[in-house]
Amino acid sequence: MTPAATGHRRSPALQHFLARFCALVTQRAAPIPAASALAAAVTAAVERVAEPGSVAPARLPVCRRFIPTLRGSLDAAEEVAALARCLMAIEPGLAWRRRPGAAADGVGFEANHANATILGQGGLETRDDLRIGVSLLGPSTTYPEHHHPPDEIYLALSTGEWRQDDGPWFAPGLGNIVFNRSDTRHGMRSGEAGLLAVWVLWPTRAV
Ligand SMILES: [Fe+2]
Repeated sequence: MTPAATGHRRSPALQHFLARFCALVTQRAAPIPAASALAAAVTAAVERVAEPGSVAPARLPVCRRFIPTLRGSLDAAEEVAALARCLMAIEPGLAWRRRPGAAADGVGFEANHANATILGQGGLETRDDLRIGVSLLGPSTTYPEHHHPPDEIYLALSTGEWRQDDGPWFAPGLGNIVFNRSDTRHGMRSGEAGLLAVWVLWPTRAV
């Protein structure tokens, strides 16, 4: 994947991360036609290099769990381990934040989760066509159910479970995806090892 010339520059670390992420999502989405279409659209979209982000890096106390939660991925299949290493390389530049309104979901959740945008508003590139980000949960934490108009793929880089609508909890497993069609209600929860997932929302506006 070679970034398109737009006058903006993208760091090699971010470019490597995006290439690895798109490749793994494309591979793991292949059995699901709609997820596969999303992966193809995102792979094409990230060819365009957008304006560099202007938000200062920021960490939260739960971020001390970032490396321990990612550790299983570093020992997984090479395409998963490579993505985990690429995520570690860009992590120091991320602005980790709590989910807006997190206090209403209890002190356990508020203190034990963090989200960071990689591409999108508040991320390493400022853009509105898609959002790529990462979510971290400390041990035994539940991320509240939510839904949104864009389709979404989560790529699990740890153990942990997801739930869609009123279905059963399920564990995708390291390096596998969870695909949410538009407005599917979904949430996730961690075990003792915590939960770490990269996600992409597409499209975030009409394109
Ligand atoms: Fe979501």
